[in-house]
Amino acid sequence: MCGIVGYAGRRTAVDIVVDGLRRLEYRGYDSAGVAVVGDGELLTEKRAGKLAVLRAALADGALDAGTTGIGHTRWATHGGPTDRNAHPHLSSDNRIAVIHNGIIENFARLRAVLEADGVEFTSDTDTEVVAHLLASIDAPLPEAMRRVSRQLEGAFTLLAVSADNPDMVVGARRNSPLVVGRGDGENFLASDVSAFIAYTREAIELGQDQVVVITPSSIEIIDFAGVPMTGTDFHIDWDLKAAEKGGFDHFMLKEIADQPQAIADTLLGRLTDHGIALDEVRISDQDLRDVTKVFIVACGTAYHSGMVAKYAIEHWTRIPCEVELASEFRYRDPILDSSTLVIAISQSGETMDTLMALRHAKQQKARVLAICNTNGSTIPRESDAVLYTHGGPEIAVASTKAFLTQLVACYLLGLYLAQVRGIMYADEVGAVVRQLQQTPDLLRDLLDQMDPVRKLSRDLSSARQVLFIGRHVGYPVALEGALKLKELAYMHAEGFAAGELKHGPIALIDDDTPVICVVPSPVGNAMMRDKVVSNIQEVRARGARTIVIAEEGDEGVRAYADDLIFVPRVPTLLAPLMTTVPLQILACEIATARGYDVDQPRNLAKSVTVE
Ligand code: AGP
Repeated sequence: MCGIVGYAGRRTAVDIVVDGLRRLEYRGYDSAGVAVVGDGELLTEKRAGKLAVLRAALADGALDAGTTGIGHTRWATHGGPTDRNAHPHLSSDNRIAVIHNGIIENFARLRAVLEADGVEFTSDTDTEVVAHLLASIDAPLPEAMRRVSRQLEGAFTLLAVSADNPDMVVGARRNSPLVVGRGDGENFLASDVSAFIAYTREAIELGQDQVVVITPSSIEIIDFAGVPMTGTDFHIDWDLKAAEKGGFDHFMLKEIADQPQAIADTLLGRLTDHGIALDEVRISDQDLRDVTKVFIVACGTAYHSGMVAKYAIEHWTRIPCEVELASEFRYRDPILDSSTLVIAISQSGETMDTLMALRHAKQQKARVLAICNTNGSTIPRESDAVLYTHGGPEIAVASTKAFLTQLVACYLLGLYLAQVRGIMYADEVGAVVRQLQQTPDLLRDLLDQMDPVRKLSRDLSSARQVLFIGRHVGYPVALEGALKLKELAYMHAEGFAAGELKHGPIALIDDDTPVICVVPSPVGNAMMRDKVVSNIQEVRARGARTIVIAEEGDEGVRAYADDLIFVPRVPTLLAPLMTTVPLQILACEIATARGYDVDQPRNLAKSVTVE
């Protein structure tokens, strides 16, 4: 939810920390703050608003002296987005500064005890208790952090610096992300590796309930019981350019343009002479053959990719597959056992709802496979198997390339299951993979033809509402198109199964309501295509303006379209790789036309690490 950075080295800490916060700002942008240790005292600056406000406040160079520091960018939970609630939070004697990502569930009780002891609080946050608790323990900061962490309930990543330990940043984590960057004469801590990839590519994954201490020359890890631990080293191969805008006005536009390459990278090396090879699948072929039921758990856009996956997995494997919102999964007591495969889809690998669904599945002895974009994150680490999407960093809050690469990973997984279970021969699997391998080029062509969509977006920017309809894999595409429009353009937008509209939602349609219609291929599935065309006629009869996304060559739909956008022909199950893209651009352009911040929409955070 929040982004945190720590640095211990020889450079000007505030520069490194603020640069890291710039890359983590997608995680929250309600306020930002830094603390550095300089000349025996803590120097801090924090401001409500985006990082730019903090940068302006730092322009006088007052914090330039320190070479140890921490920084925070906030997505508010406890306490409004104000200066006083911005992190860091300080102990009463101003000797310890703390930043925090997550929620400390027992903070009220801890605060009451501290207040009874005469401690005065200066914020409404759950975090401030940690600063006072650390100060109350007469022990070195690492030991104090270990003891305080044991008192805390909930999810937290904490970083602290102390005026008494000028070279040291101490971190702790439970159920919330923290990675270590190993540099040369300098070390880093951050919510994710993008914060430090400009300085080092060597990272360390931490385990659950651990304290980490970095100095310029050392990294030490202990668990909350005080036992020395070793993290897991990994190398970061993300291209730094991938975390920059690269000449585009917004990260989202760049990430939309990145999609052909992201798909190609996700497919790279997966097809061998023996069929599909997946990475890190630590579930035996026999166990995969024994699977009787698949559940997919995910949130938001990732959930929509799971909806598409259901069609592909059931079609190719004939295993029953259900898709569930991760936030609902465990509350309905799903029937799970060791023959159940649970697929957790998450770009960030840190979404708390998905993580909790995964843990519930593991408790019930189900096998868990993660589809994830973020190396070193919690969801893949806690899964029995991982299939990484190689989308590179996705910075814009609205998911685009994550969605398409999740689709590709789901297709690969479906084919792999079919191959292992002997339902498809290697050459049949190979044929689908080769069709997938053609999609990056098709997508490049499509992206070159998006000017009419941009023009259309100017027309639609004043609409009161926009509806989306689709059938089969076009239905999740309709949901995804509506989600993009809601989160970016703050417009009322709803996606519907095209056949369901007549059972109620058609009442929403009045004169000129734009309805975006995702039409299946007349070649791949003529019957389904004709049904959607009938649904289009139903909405036109009620005055709707129909914007039709159809397959190249389907001239028959022209008569039912006020606006027609063609996408390249691909097999029916793969169609979302094409039909989603105009909807991404439409939402991005409408939001821009309405004057909104495309990369950082209001009220949202990229990685939702609370339930
Ligand atoms: C979509 O544009 C959003 N960013 C959101 O719905 C997101 O897909 C969801 O929060 C899940 O995130 P994850 O993939 O990181 O788990």
